[in-house]
Parts: sequence; structure tokens; C-alpha cells
Amino acid sequence: MLHMNELNLKNKKVLIRVDFNVPIVNNKIMSDMRIQASIPTIQLALKNHAKVIVMSHLGRPKEGKYQKQFSLLPIFQYLKKIFNKTKIYFSNNLNKIQINSGELLILENVRFNIGEKNNDISLSQKYASLCDIFVMDAFGSAHRKESSTFGIGMFTKIACAGPLLISEIKKLSIVLKNPERPMISIVGGSKISTKFKLIQSLAKLSDTVIVGGGIANTFLAIDYNIGKSLYEPKFIDMAKKIKHQYNIIIPIDSRVGTNFSTKSSAIVKKPFEIHNNEEIMDLGDKSIENMTKIIKKAKTILWNGPVGVFEFPKFSIGTKKLATSIANSKAFSIAGGGETISVINMFNIQNKISYISTGGGAFLEFIEKNTLSSIHMLEISKKKYNLKNN
Ligand code: 3PG
Repeated sequence: MLHMNELNLKNKKVLIRVDFNVPIVNNKIMSDMRIQASIPTIQLALKNHAKVIVMSHLGRPKEGKYQKQFSLLPIFQYLKKIFNKTKIYFSNNLNKIQINSGELLILENVRFNIGEKNNDISLSQKYASLCDIFVMDAFGSAHRKESSTFGIGMFTKIACAGPLLISEIKKLSIVLKNPERPMISIVGGSKISTKFKLIQSLAKLSDTVIVGGGIANTFLAIDYNIGKSLYEPKFIDMAKKIKHQYNIIIPIDSRVGTNFSTKSSAIVKKPFEIHNNEEIMDLGDKSIENMTKIIKKAKTILWNGPVGVFEFPKFSIGTKKLATSIANSKAFSIAGGGETISVINMFNIQNKISYISTGGGAFLEFIEKNTLSSIHMLEISKKKYNLKNN
């Protein structure tokens, strides 16, 4: 892959694809982590006197239609404060782009454009025509084969990787290629089907995998009736195989409730004690003790997903104890995924995790496949560039 800092950006039209897909409620940005992570890249391009154009998606709007709640305007307002010494513009018109060196233009949500999701050729060509250099820096969207993350690279003169994308790949590769051992992975959350393949890849890579949430319930369902608990019957066979082959730590007790609500009672039970009207919503004390002991001994920790319903105080104990234990560990710790970032913010441990990835789905897919669509695009583009320039 070509790197942005290998190229001369002066007076060039540089189009940077970032991931500004952040939670926004009533025009208020609820987490600016992804925006903050992209700022050094934009600053670098401005410092090099490029004509900087920035594009991103936000949410999953219907294409071809403006929908206010998915507009990037609140992000533009946020950026105006940060780049207060720079001429900064906002545009929703790909046909009228006028910009000078050292200036910054933010484009409206790419997912309003017809063809974006389907990696449409004419839209990709349109994006490519806007720039001399395309910088792919949206690690969080690099698993998407869309016009602004993939197609554009097939038509642009030069496509290169931005600093954030490179840093994410480097940090994740430490864990994937040469982790200090013992390496443990902690996987929780409710998206069971997206994560089961990940468990297998992680189990191969790690000395121990700790499971929580719906993933753990699916392992428990091999041997027990777990009442109303969330689990995925179609993955039970796979869970059996993984459990047999690898070192998987499954909860030995859980906090159960009778209704999915913050008011539900929380009782610690062993798996065989769970009644039909009960559901697992967090780890029990013995499991927490056992899991935190394992975390303490780890030299590398990879973490994705809460181990309970952390939004309900009575069921946040397991997630809090494990998160604190990861934060206090001297191991190299890496965390990623939307819910994981919410947990990190909730317990205020941002500075105690060695690396927090800006990726959710991209983080998981990179662990599983060791590559992503946009990385593939950048590799093809580099080959084309070498052919032309050698
Ligand atoms: C994410 O939040 O994981 C990325 O921004 C990708 O968003 P998407 O799942 O809507 O493509």
C-alpha cells in the first residue's frame, strides 16, 4: 500500500475518506472518538498545502434522499471549532467543488448518493474525478466494498492509506502475528451470529478465550436448559466443536432475572438452577473471580463486547469487574467495537487500554480474515501505480 506521507500533497486535490459514523442525538455528538482520531490526518494534509476534501458516511439512510437525522452538518459545526484558523466549507453538491490550497471542504453523507452502497461504477468515477490523490483513512468502514471505500480506488490516479488506517493495521497486527503469551481474548455482546466465526479465529490465536453474553449462553445451552436467555441454537454444534478443541472459559454461575428491565431482581445461579422464566443477564461472582484471575496472568489481551447487560446497573457488575481488571493489567490490551467503546467510556478507562480501535465490524473482520476490502483496493492501486511509475 502507498502511504499518504510518501506523497507530495502540495497544491493537490486530496480527498480523504474518514469514518465519522458517530452517535448523534438531537444534533449532539455523543462520542467524538472517531472524529478525533481523523483530525491528525486532516491536519497533516492541510499543513502540506493540499486542497483537502473530506467525505464520510453517517448511519444507514435511504439513498437518493436527504434525511436530516443523517446529515453530517453537526459534524461540520464541530470541525469548524477545531479548524477555526482554516477556511472550511460544507457541500452537498459533487458537481460544484471549488477549493484552494490550505482549505477544507466537508462533503455531505456519502450514503445519500445513489449507488454508494452498491459500489456503483459511475459514482466511483465521479468521486475519483474530484481529486488527484485519494486517501483511505476510514478504518471503521474499510470492510465495506462501497463506492467511497473501494470503487473510487479503481479510478483515481493515486490511492493511498492514511495514518489512522496504517496505525490500526499495525496495532492489530501485533496481536495477530506476534502476541506476547499468554494471550487471552474476551468476547461478549449480543451479536451472536456475527461473532461465532470470530470466536474460532480467536481460539486458534489465543491461549484462552473468555466468553460472556449471548456467546457464552450458546456454549451453556450445549448442556443446560437456560430458560429465556438469549442464545443461538444454530451455533450449538459449532460451539461444541470449539469447546472440545480449544481452551474456552464459560461462566460457572450467572446473574439471572425474570424480565429484561432495569427493575428486574438479580439472583446468582448455577446453570442447572435456571428456571424457564429466567434469563441470564450477567456473570455470577465465582465466574468473575475465575475470569479476573486469568486476566491478571495475561501478557496480551484482546477485548470485544460486554459480558452482561451493562446498561442496567444490577447487571453491569461482570462487565465492570472485567473491564477494570483489563485496565489494571500490565498486558498489551487492545479493544474494539461500538459497545466496547461505550463500556470503556462508561467506566472511564480510556487511558488504561493500550489501544482502542475505531473499528466495530472492521475490527472483527480484520481479526478474522487478516485483511479488509479497502486494503485489497489499496494493494491493487499500488500495483497500478508502480507499473506507471517504474
Ligand atoms: C461502523 O460503525 O462499524 C462503521 O462506520 C460501518 O458502518 P456500517 O456498518 O453502517 O457500514
